[in-house]
Amino acid sequence: MWTGRFEQPTDELVRSYSESVSFDWRLYRHDVAGSIAHAAALRHADLITADEERQIAEGLRGIEQEIGAGKFEFRPELEDVHMNIEAELTRRIGTAGAKLHTARSRNDQIALDLRLYLRDEIAAIRQLLRRLQGALVELAKRHPDVVMPGYTHLQRAQPVLFGHHLLAYVEMLDRDRERLADAARRMDVLPLGSGAIAGSTIVLDRPLVARLLGFSRVSENSMDAVSDRDFACEFLSAAALIGVHLSRLSEDIVLWSTSEFHFLQLSDAFTTGSSLMPQKKNPDVAELTRGKTGRLFGNLMSVLTTLKGLPMTYNRDLQEDKEAVFDSVDTIKAALAVNAAMLGDARVDDVSMASAAGDPLLLATDLADYLVLKGVPFRQAHEIVGKLVALSGRTGVPFDRLSLEDFRAASPVIESDVHALFDVRRSLAARTATGAPAPANVAGRIRHWESDFGRDA
Ligand code: ARG
Repeated sequence: MWTGRFEQPTDELVRSYSESVSFDWRLYRHDVAGSIAHAAALRHADLITADEERQIAEGLRGIEQEIGAGKFEFRPELEDVHMNIEAELTRRIGTAGAKLHTARSRNDQIALDLRLYLRDEIAAIRQLLRRLQGALVELAKRHPDVVMPGYTHLQRAQPVLFGHHLLAYVEMLDRDRERLADAARRMDVLPLGSGAIAGSTIVLDRPLVARLLGFSRVSENSMDAVSDRDFACEFLSAAALIGVHLSRLSEDIVLWSTSEFHFLQLSDAFTTGSSLMPQKKNPDVAELTRGKTGRLFGNLMSVLTTLKGLPMTYNRDLQEDKEAVFDSVDTIKAALAVNAAMLGDARVDDVSMASAAGDPLLLATDLADYLVLKGVPFRQAHEIVGKLVALSGRTGVPFDRLSLEDFRAASPVIESDVHALFDVRRSLAARTATGAPAPANVAGRIRHWESDFGRDA
């Protein structure tokens, strides 16, 4: 491709060191789409004939099909997907193929391909996020009455509806969807026409190309367009946050499926056994999801680090963005799909949950609130209840079965209605503020999500 200036062939070590086609071949569909749109602009500028444009488009579609069918032979000595496709096109159609790269550089070409690729993948990932949200909402809906202890510091804190816990993840995943949509909006800029760095003396109709490729804007600075990969970082960052959310969900699933918690039973299809211990049923999917989050972080760090010291504009370092992006795309898509399926297949042990939620200490704050409503300042109420908790611990009498005398010794404002306080359903039903887990709120949120999902369809 550059034999004009060179007298020696590329060293074999350099070839294998610098080739990217072994991974960037994945961009072939977007590379072809970009080239077909570019050919339309060349035709529009009368740089190629209508017949040449047709030859180019047909030739590219033929190559695209062969790649898709696994019949195309990529040549590493041609470095990347761009040169492989262009060289093969020219081999097939001759002169018209040799005109395709007019007023274009691989620098604006790769900036385009990666945007087109991420645009598609973001749409697919947003769909998969929906699917996981759907599985969580479905699970919440199937267990409308299941109460569980809510935890802070992994210590029992206050009662919540199981559905409320699940819907917390639905909120997180919704912000993930928004973040991706937001990244896609900023990515929605055509870089093609920026050339290698400074556009071209041959001026093409960029808005036409943008329209053909479905971009709403064209880039306003050629140097920026070929050199930045902030859009890739935004995607990687959104992917890393999805990883954080999935990893926390995974940790819940790991805990819930222990004998100690016994809140959730994963199906055989989504667990693995031990080669040694016959009794084991391991939550490997959750563990792997937790583990794979590390590579999502790594991919973001890797590209940020690649970018930070680069002089303007394009530098070959930028080729290092691809594998990180591909890996995050693959990792997130697989994790979302398998987790949605796994949750759809999980059994909830509502008896264990109810028994854990029956711990009267979960209602210690309710007793403090009771005192406050009788005029005791909250800090004093906290102290009084703390003493009662200690008394229960010392005597072994469950907190809710302490005698009225014990309660009144701690605070004379306590009356015989205190024992009615120790009812987890009452406690939940009272939590009616927006965002709190009263059953009516949770049911309302389930309806909200269902109608939200309906709007996608
Ligand atoms: N494979 C290259 C990349 O990923 C494409 C652009 C190459 N441009 C160049 N001038 N060598 O960044």
